[in-house]
Amino acid sequence: MKILFVTVEMAPLVKVGGLADVAGSLPRALIALGHDVRVIMPMHEDIDTARYGFRATVPEVTVGTPRGPEQAAVWEGQPGGIPVYLIQQSDMFERPQVYGEPDDHQRWLFFCDAVLAAAPRLGWQPDILHLNDWHAAFVAARLHTDAGHPLARTPVVYTIHNLALKGEFDEPFAVVNDLPAGDHAAAGVSAELLRSGMALGILHSDVLNTVSPTYAREILTPEFGAGLEPLLQRRQHDLYGVLNGIDYEEYNPATDTRLPATFHAGDLSGRKTVRAALLASAGMDPTEAPILGVVNRLFWQKGADIAVDAVQELLAEGADLRFILLGTGDVPYHEQLESLANRYPQRVALFLRFDPDLAQVIYGGSDLFLMPSRYEPCGLGQMIAMRYGAVPVVRRTGGLSDTVPDADATSEGRGFCFEAPEGTALAGALRRALAAYRQKERWLAIQQRGMRADLSWTETAGHYVNLYLAAQDRAARRA
Ligand code: GLC
Repeated sequence: MKILFVTVEMAPLVKVGGLADVAGSLPRALIALGHDVRVIMPMHEDIDTARYGFRATVPEVTVGTPRGPEQAAVWEGQPGGIPVYLIQQSDMFERPQVYGEPDDHQRWLFFCDAVLAAAPRLGWQPDILHLNDWHAAFVAARLHTDAGHPLARTPVVYTIHNLALKGEFDEPFAVVNDLPAGDHAAAGVSAELLRSGMALGILHSDVLNTVSPTYAREILTPEFGAGLEPLLQRRQHDLYGVLNGIDYEEYNPATDTRLPATFHAGDLSGRKTVRAALLASAGMDPTEAPILGVVNRLFWQKGADIAVDAVQELLAEGADLRFILLGTGDVPYHEQLESLANRYPQRVALFLRFDPDLAQVIYGGSDLFLMPSRYEPCGLGQMIAMRYGAVPVVRRTGGLSDTVPDADATSEGRGFCFEAPEGTALAGALRRALAAYRQKERWLAIQQRGMRADLSWTETAGHYVNLYLAAQDRAARRA
């Protein structure tokens, strides 16, 4: 099959969140299955086009906008063996950041319009459009109203990586840009919510999916549905949950050059070296006390405050542990973490920054890895942690629930889970984990089960092929 994968971020070209990892690895796994997958994304300022050998191949594409026709260009390259089209338009995409510009809606709508304007000029027609998150969803909305477009009958798969980021816009924006208003009474949601990229994607795609089976169920409920649950319930029969994988070549502790020593499930001796290096870089003395690691963005979703409360509770009752966190995000979380570190300077070390090299040392050197997310569509950190022998302690939600069976509940367990999004609940799971850590043989077995688990893309890519087939089937039956 020929698949056009539409996204606004992709590793290694530009990465903000997990979507970039998926865009950088799922296409490769599909290509390995024999499919012809090409990615299309904006040419952000940060992309090093020379390094990846990008060339302008369609120098002039005219994109209709309310301001009149505007010019864009298409560049082509093959980073990491994946064919990529970049939409170049300086005013829209050469910005200091990928997300968070005041005119983001306009930019992503322009991107989608440019994708549709460029598509007939690529000399390659996709069998499937695979749209990712609300930024790409305008493609589906446009095709819905433009029956004459060469891709109007092309099956559309829409993947929701994070339902809570909806991309809402106001009525004037919808009117000026000629976006379909939709019947909100029929959709079961308010007119305001229907005016969002997310709602348009859900309404106008043939098949929907999200990135884990549990999150696919959760988003049908008010707690996780972000107000869109009535709309999702109406499309429940077209909604699937497909667990993400991680790239087993990039994330391999036996070959990872970012680690001071390598290791594998059959021989963990190198891990001791990594652990010692981690303690040293945190300014801590050598110790056998368990190291609790965190690598995360510091946002409400990710629950850094829950981690702070739990660590505080355990330290206050005298537990001997080390807490090492890498991440950056919202100021209140930085402040809470700093006050914890000031209170327990020998126990807590913070790296409040983005540092992919140090991240690997934390995965490879921590004993436990904390992910107390309030919600988590899939989550990649817990999968990388397991592959590197750090035992995850996670909230039982979304993809965390699907990837981390609890070692106290099943002999297949490879981590520890808790329910309520609160420090005391995490502290409870941590006490269980710390008890297991003291039983050396049991601990090693838990680590090895995590390291040997198959959370690669191999199987998942096959599930996406099934989604594409389902979308073809639905599209053929479209009125
Ligand atoms: C978003 C979600 C995360 C998921 C990633 C890739 O970042 O928050 O859970 O793993 O997308 O699908």
